[in-house]
Order: sequence, then C-alpha cells, then structure tokens
Amino acid sequence: MQGLVAATAARNLSRLRSTAALRSSWVCPSCSHGRVASTRYAQSFGQSSRRSFRSSAVRGIADKPYYITTPIFYVNASPHVGHLFTMVLADVLKRWEVLKGERPAYLCTGTDEHGMKVQQAADLQDVPPKTLCDSNAEIFKDLAKKANISNDYFIRTTDPDHREAVEYFWRRLYDNGFIYETKHEGWYCVSDETFYPENMVTKQVHPHTGKTFMASIETGNVVEWIEEKNYHFRMTALKDRLLEFYKENPKWVFPASRMREVVDWVENNLEDLSVSRPFTRLQWGIPVPDDPGQTIYVWVDALINYLTFAGYPNWTPGSEHAGGWPADVHVVGKDIVRFHCVYWPALLMALDLPLPKRVLSHGHWLMDQKKMSKSIGNVVNPFFAIDRWGVDTMRYFLIHSAAMEFDSNYNNAIIVERYKKGLQGGLGNLLNRVTRSKKWSVREAIQHVHQVGAQPFKGDVLENPQFETLVSEQKKHIESLAGLVSEHMDAVQPRTALHEIMELIFEGSRFVTSVAPWDLAGKGDVYKPQLHQAVYTAAETVRVAGILLQPFIPEKAAQLLDRLGVDPACRTFEYAKLNADSNYGTSLVPLAISTPKVLLVPYDAYHVPKYHAWMEDAAIREATASDRLTLEEEFENQDSWRTSADKLTFIVCKPLLTPQPDSPIVAGEADGEPRMVGDINLFLTPWEDDAEDDDEGEGDDGDTAKTAPVEVDRPAAAYCVGEVDIMIADAADRGRGTGKAAVSAFLWFIKRNADAILAEYAADTGQEGGGLRMKALVARIKATNEGSIALFKGLGFEQRGSVNYFGEIELVRREFEAKGGIKEVEGYEELPFDRSKLKK
Ligand code: MSP
Repeated sequence: MQGLVAATAARNLSRLRSTAALRSSWVCPSCSHGRVASTRYAQSFGQSSRRSFRSSAVRGIADKPYYITTPIFYVNASPHVGHLFTMVLADVLKRWEVLKGERPAYLCTGTDEHGMKVQQAADLQDVPPKTLCDSNAEIFKDLAKKANISNDYFIRTTDPDHREAVEYFWRRLYDNGFIYETKHEGWYCVSDETFYPENMVTKQVHPHTGKTFMASIETGNVVEWIEEKNYHFRMTALKDRLLEFYKENPKWVFPASRMREVVDWVENNLEDLSVSRPFTRLQWGIPVPDDPGQTIYVWVDALINYLTFAGYPNWTPGSEHAGGWPADVHVVGKDIVRFHCVYWPALLMALDLPLPKRVLSHGHWLMDQKKMSKSIGNVVNPFFAIDRWGVDTMRYFLIHSAAMEFDSNYNNAIIVERYKKGLQGGLGNLLNRVTRSKKWSVREAIQHVHQVGAQPFKGDVLENPQFETLVSEQKKHIESLAGLVSEHMDAVQPRTALHEIMELIFEGSRFVTSVAPWDLAGKGDVYKPQLHQAVYTAAETVRVAGILLQPFIPEKAAQLLDRLGVDPACRTFEYAKLNADSNYGTSLVPLAISTPKVLLVPYDAYHVPKYHAWMEDAAIREATASDRLTLEEEFENQDSWRTSADKLTFIVCKPLLTPQPDSPIVAGEADGEPRMVGDINLFLTPWEDDAEDDDEGEGDDGDTAKTAPVEVDRPAAAYCVGEVDIMIADAADRGRGTGKAAVSAFLWFIKRNADAILAEYAADTGQEGGGLRMKALVARIKATNEGSIALFKGLGFEQRGSVNYFGEIELVRREFEAKGGIKEVEGYEELPFDRSKLKK
C-alpha cells in the first residue's frame, strides 16, 4: 500500500508541476483579463454543468480519480487533536478507496496562511507573516507524517500556483458580473474570519473586568464594528439555485441535521458576501486583481485551494476531471459548514463549475464539555498524544469514538479503555490465540480446508453438538462483513464501519472460546478435521478483518497480516471475503534480533546438532548443570522446548561482521559457527503469592524485610513469573559485553512482545488471554559468578534471599511493567527471519 501511495503522490506532483509550467505560459499574456482561458473553459465544461447541478454533484464521472480534502489549517497556532481528527477521518476514507483499488485516489491537506488572524499573530511575535507561516506549516506537515496520513499533496495558500488560481477565479467572478463595489458596515470577527449579521451578535460582559463587548452568538468570539469600502459577491442572486440544488441533493451534507441548518440559513439569512478588505487593514493576503488597495477575503482565498490541487484553471478541454475535480468529499468541522455548504457552492455556481459531491461534517472534540480550541486554551497536543499512545491507538480511538453528529469527549481513560477492549483484548488476543498456539498449525488448517473441504465428523458423537452451527454462523458473519463495511464507507461513516469490523472480531473471540480448539487438538486424529475447521474459521475472521482494518490502523493491520502470513499482494478489498486466499498461514514476522554486539536468532531444530556438540564439552555441562545426552535424546528434549508455550529460546550469536544490506540475516548462515556463542531462555511459571512479594507498597521506607505481608487483592492466576536464563558458552567471549547486550535485547524483546507471549502462555495453560501479566523477572546465578551478578544488577535486578542449596542467588526484577520499565536497547532491530532457509 505504501508503494501505491508513493506512486500516486509522485504522479500527482509531476502533474502539478506540469500544470504550473503550462499555466505560466498562458497566464501572462491574458493576465489583465483572463479571457482567453475563461472562454475555452466555459465552452468545454461550464455550460453543461449549469443545466443540471444534480448530474455534476451526485453522479460519478467515470474516469475521474477519487479526490478527498481536509480543511486547510490556520497557521496562527499549533495543531491540536481536533485537527488531527479531521486529517485521520479524511485519510481513512482515502485509504479505503486505495484498498478498493478501482481508481486513483488523492488526498489533499494543507495550511490556510493569509488573513487577519495570521497577520495579527505574526505582529504579536514580531516576525514577518511569511516567516511564521513557513515554520508553522512545517508543524502541520510533521503531524500529517506522524499520524500516517497518506496525503498526496500539502497545499499552502502562499504557494504561487494557488495565488494564480485565486486571481483567475476572482477575474471570472468579476467578468460574470458577480462582484460589485460597495461601502460595507458590519460586525467582523477576526477569530472566525467572518462578518456576522446583526441578529447573530450579542452584548457580553467580561467576567473579570466587567467591561461589555460584542460577541458572536454562535462561537462566543469577539466581534468589532467595521465600516469600509470593499467588494461584495452577489450571493443573493444564487439563492434559488442553491435551494434547488439542496432539494435535489438532500444527502449532500452529512449528517442530515446539518443539511437542514444549511437550507435554513440560505432561506432566512442569505446576504451578499463581503469578499475583500481594504489593504490598509489587511495586508497579508492576495491583492484584488487590478485593485491593490483591496485584499481578497481569506475564506474565498482558502476555499479555492481545493481547485488549485485539481489543477484549476489549467484544465485541458475534455480532461477537466483528470485532477480530481469535483472533489468526492470535503471533510469539515461543523463550525465551518456554512463556508463549505453555502459560500463555496455559490462561488462555484457563479462560475458554472461542478460542485463537490459530498460534504462530511463532523462534531467537535470537547475537553471538560468545552470545544477543544486554542482560544480557550484547552487543547491536547497531538504529537504528545501519539507519542504516548502510539499512532494506531490514536487513530483507532479517534474513529471509534468519533465526533460525528454529536460532539465527543476527549479523555485519556477512554483511550485506554478502547485500546484494551478493542486492540489488545479483541484484535491482538484473537490473533495470538489463532497463531501462537503450538497445538495446531494455521498453515496446515488452511491447506486442509482448501484441499479437502469441510468433512463430517468421523467419530461417534461430536462432543460439542453446537460445533457445526458455530462454524457456519461465524462463516456467514465473515462473508457479510465486506458488504456491510462498504455500505458504511460509501455513506462516509467510517465510525460505523469500524464498529462493524470490531463486532466480527469480538464474535470471533466468542467463537474460539466456544469451539475450544485446544480441546479438539487434544482429542486425537478423529477430531483433526474439526480442529482444522475451527482454526481455519478463526484465521479467516482475523484475515478478513485485518484487510478491512488497513485504512483505519495501517501499521497494526500490516503487522497482523504479516503475522498471519498474508502475502502483501493479497491484502486488497477483493480478498476480504471468505476462502479468497489459500496461501497464507506461515508468519512473515521478523523475529531475529540484532544489536551492535549480538544477534539473537529464534531457536530451531537446526541448532540441535550444534548444541549437542557444545554439550560434549564437560566444562559446559558443568557450567549448565546438564547431563550428557545422545543426539537423539537431545532432539527429543529440545523439541519439547521448541513447542512449549512456557519457554522461549534464542540462540545468541555475534553480529555479522559484514552486514548484507538486502538481507541482514539469513538464519542458518548468520548464526553458524563461529558466531554462535550461547543461548538465552525465558521460562514462564505461575506466580505464587507469598509474603515476600507483598512488600511492594509505594513509598515504603525501603526496609522491606520488616514490612508486614500486605493482602493482595488480585488473583494469583492473573500473574506469572518469567525466569531469564542466559548462557554464553565460549569462555573467550566472556567479559566483552556480549551477555549484557543479549540480556538487554532479550528483555526489550519480551517487553515489546509481552502481549503475544503472555497470550500464548495463557491459552496453553487454559486461561483466557488478555488479562495475564508478568509479575516479575527472575534470574538464578551462581553466587561466585560475579560478572553475571553485576550484569543483572546493572539491568535493574535485585537480590532476593541468600545463597540456596545449589550455591545460587536469586536476582529479581519486580513488577515487570513498573515505572522505569525495561530500557530500549540502542541499535536494536528486528530482522526478517527466513525460515525457509533453515537447514535441517
Ligand atoms: N482555515 C479554516 C478552514 C479553511 S478550509 C478551506 C479553519 N481552520 S482551523 O484550523 O480553525 O480548523 C480546521 C479544522 O479543524 C476545521 O474543520 C475545524 O472544525 C477542525 N477543528 C478545530 N477544532 C476542533 C475540535 N475541537 N474538534 C474537532 N475538530 C475541530 O477553520
């Protein structure tokens, strides 16, 4: 998908570049009138659209790319979560189109840089407005990048080609008789960059100073009385056409309640629009062509950005749609509906340009019941939020709890709750239950079902009489999902679509619990076909949901599909149906870990002969307290390790001396002699509550030995303990930091993958996954082994008790998840582990 996004962006950019070049070639000769181009345009396109607005607004234009926009953001202040939300909403809809793959899809976002607001902000900071714009536009660009927004272009209203588009648009309005000069009096609000009619302002008393001032009833922002000469746009002349258009396109604005407000406004409040300000008041903007004493109104300037991206006005006759216009969707907040649903269509109608097909208006994010806004000062910094929660958790939360018809409360507790329920307990848990159990193979189940199909039970009586019904119900649910999600997305309702996908996931979890594949796996061959059906159905649930989740949580969905082993070419919409893919089931997840000092490779059968060879060395046997085994016994012994959920083993290798850029690791070669230096294990055991573990109260005086046992109000079953065991076999490698690098990387790996590791362990020990947590990490080390003791202490482990019967001490890291946590390892990298290259 990334590749496709990049290709689209590149195509669009080169297209934009070429339109800019072409435009400059004709703008100059005609710049005083703009007539040459306007005539050409009107002949080719405008006249027909005048006849029926329905056709231009609603019916699709076959070869037109999909085009969606976000509002462009004022640069006078930094972005907040409300802005992030608008971007994510548009991005999800754009990615949906990419997923469907029917036509190119463009998303444009950007910054609104002119106007009084920005001029005043720059004055306050004592910098030229362009300097302020340059630095703040970068922040919005950074946000788009950080939030994984797949915008194809980032427009700035100070861009030269935008200025040309605005000048051209103005001239056409003028030529068409829609602009006249007049003296204007009225209430202007700098904060909202708009005039308000008399009936929309009210007197207010300042709560602290007691002074009275006039304010907008709608937004509460201060308004000032302005008397000036300026230009007006004859919007009232378009009243009937606007009303006719709304009537013919009742779903043009989502939701319906806002559509009604729009119609009401036009019926009752429509006036001509003041579209310029005297230069003496507003310098920071685009001058009115042929009258530099006036500056174009910032909203007219800003709205035209949507056309600029689409290559306006340099449209080739016959290919006017090639740049995407008319836009398929404008995503806007409810506070700017009037600008987009009254002023904008009126301006377009005045030039006989096609109208956008749809306006999706959303509600506001509130903090403590008030709109999150810079002027109130209750904003949440979206960069911090993404850093704290992760990009996909934020994207998931913002869409799942999206403010659409109504406003939504922004609240960290809700983010955590959504994450735990949806992403961790729902999606992550189901994926783990399907893929991490060693009692079955997903690949085998898929092959079986695709080759043999469903087989009736061959035994006497199926123990679970509901089995067949459960499978067929779940399959029906999977089958219907793509259609349902599509309907919601076509109706621009990603929130409902996401709920629908999550419902399948939750249903999938209930399905797995009900069919209990771990029980089927324990019942011998006669139950094998049923086991395959159960695993297959669960895997299909995750695969189909994973494909459909890509627009919402692109990173997590990709990880999920990697884990499931779904080929990147099989992740498009047509694969989001039951039985559509027979080739997945072998994880593509990178597992080998590299740090500057060591390389950790997942332990596999391939290592057994080498391991066996080591164990021939009496010193190693002594160091590891191991018995001498035959190769056969070693295989048997280690096979049980490899397949048990309570043990995780990596072979520790020295890093590659000559890194290979394309394939940094090839298992079976990279870990070959002489690089292989030891192994590292994690054993999981249930946590047994005991007095010593209870002295963990915060703020105690450190004298833990004297602390009385505390009643722990948590079931012991919710915790386990991890025992870390490391062996560096080659004496020559001791004292070189290899052990520390290996343990640090391993701990960091466990921390990052704790959910998956614990879920596997939980499933295997018959517990429901999700809730299980690691209570502590333990290492048992010979009391004389000072080097290893120092190593573990340096990593936050503390000694518990004294030397035991075997001459070992126990080093413990309490509360695996506790504050401070496990430190990220420098240079840590997870590398592709090519299982197919394993030598037997
Ligand atoms: N510059 C204009 C838009 C011009 S588009 C031709 C503008 N900019 S803005 O920066 O003030 O707002 C940009 C978008 O962010 C708007 O859609 C607005 O509704 C949205 N939001 C601002 N605060 C918000 C919330 N608290 N919650 C949700 N969205 C919010 O208006």
